[in-house]
Amino acid sequence: MSGAKGSGVTERPREQWTGQVGFILAAIGSAVGLGNIWRFPGVAYENGGGAFLIPYLVALITAGIPILFLDYAIGHRFRGSAPAAFRRLGGRWLEGLGWFQVMVAFVIGLYYTAVIAWALSYFVFSFDLRWGDDPATFLTADYLQVGDPGLSFQFVPSVLIPLVLVWVVTLVVLGAGVARGVQRANVIFLPLLVVAFLVLVVRALFLDGAADGLNAFFTPNWQALGDPNVWIAAYSQIFFSLSIAFGIMITYASYRKRRANLTTPGLVVAFANSSFEILAGIGVFATLGFFAFQQGIAIDELEGLTGVGLSFITFPAIVSQMPGGPIFGVLFFGSLTMAGFTSLLSVLQVVSAGFQEKFGLTARQAAIRVGGVSAILSVLLFSTTTGLLALDVADQWANNVGIVASAVIMTVLVLWVLRKGPELRYHLNAVSTFKVGGIWVVLVGGLAPVVLGYMLISRIVTLTAEGYGGLPAWYLVLIGWGTIIVVIIGAVVLTLLRWRSDPERFTAWPPYPPTPVEHPAPPGASTRSPDGGAS
Ligand code: ALA
Repeated sequence: MSGAKGSGVTERPREQWTGQVGFILAAIGSAVGLGNIWRFPGVAYENGGGAFLIPYLVALITAGIPILFLDYAIGHRFRGSAPAAFRRLGGRWLEGLGWFQVMVAFVIGLYYTAVIAWALSYFVFSFDLRWGDDPATFLTADYLQVGDPGLSFQFVPSVLIPLVLVWVVTLVVLGAGVARGVQRANVIFLPLLVVAFLVLVVRALFLDGAADGLNAFFTPNWQALGDPNVWIAAYSQIFFSLSIAFGIMITYASYRKRRANLTTPGLVVAFANSSFEILAGIGVFATLGFFAFQQGIAIDELEGLTGVGLSFITFPAIVSQMPGGPIFGVLFFGSLTMAGFTSLLSVLQVVSAGFQEKFGLTARQAAIRVGGVSAILSVLLFSTTTGLLALDVADQWANNVGIVASAVIMTVLVLWVLRKGPELRYHLNAVSTFKVGGIWVVLVGGLAPVVLGYMLISRIVTLTAEGYGGLPAWYLVLIGWGTIIVVIIGAVVLTLLRWRSDPERFTAWPPYPPTPVEHPAPPGASTRSPDGGAS
């Protein structure tokens, strides 16, 4: 059935993955990213160690997988980028939610590229251990040349050059399209990443002190389970890590063939992502165990166990002390670069797809025009002496406010207001082998919005009352809240702009609920219904 209205606009055939394997690789490539390697180990350690696995698994099962399925169902049933899919699902005004998600992905793309650029530089630095004896000073003073909070336009060439390189490669891949660009890059880099990371983890396990590191990582602190912040940390880790609720999986599912199994690949992706995350925890903590052992201290006396500090200060310090350190460094930073790159492609595909569909652009045109503007903004904001601080603050707000708000708004509008739960469940079950029960609707429509709504409010209250990272309030307003304001304004403006193609033009599925098949009444049967009325 065609949902097309006669607009006279010719429909460009929708791009597709070449098959299920291509899609699964791309979806795993998207999920496994910087969040797995540099975020998860430290978050888990700080939030109860082994005990964190409980909220983590609860978050995965109650919100992660259900919302992953929700994204898949929306993208596949309404076959579009986030703005187009939401518009088809709920009407003109719901397109705004799609643009909100596109804007969140846009902001994340701007700084995510910068972290990949650093990883790429450190990949090169690993060969001659360029950071010397003092990786902390090397990072902040020599490499990033960090200045005071503010907006500086003093560019740092050591960051600018790899950042431009990452943008050029990314835009070439995005410009080549879904199958020839994004899928092909994932088919190459995901297996390479898995091999490199496995070699790294096995090597780490044989280091002196590795067992102490694993003990520190897995020893549960049960008291942590009573702390709501631990649960918030688990839910926000799952969202970023599974690439859900900011348009990625809607966009990726929209490139699946019409008859495509959705839920089973979803389970494969979720399982692969969490396995990689735990593997990263094992690799990182075995390595930290070695570092503590070398210094004759306990793991909890180490500093810099998360994010930038972990990857770009602690790890270089360890690499310098390790026999065969340069190889270990190459494996670690190579993995970080590849994991980040395949995720970055998915983040920016959200933006590219949104613009392609609304403004009738080809993948190449979107890469040049939208990608070009993004690259310029990214360079202006993140390759200067204030880039590190801006990145840290933008990341906090985009993740903890932007993505979580998007998840709350999406579940409330789609499930509560529009009551699309049964239709989307019907769609998932019509195409998939693993069927979802009514519990799925309860989770995405009931539990998720309540838990996530609480999380969002408490995060906003904390950020407003306590600030972040001891940074001046004006800076947090400018970069942190500024990020959210830009996302909202961008979403409103992009929603109001005129479509250059017909948003209703797509190959729609038969309407829901399905019309019951009518059987002719047997001869002589009563024409009265059981309740006595005329049938
Ligand atoms: N899912 C991606 C990550 O974990 C965005 O980094």
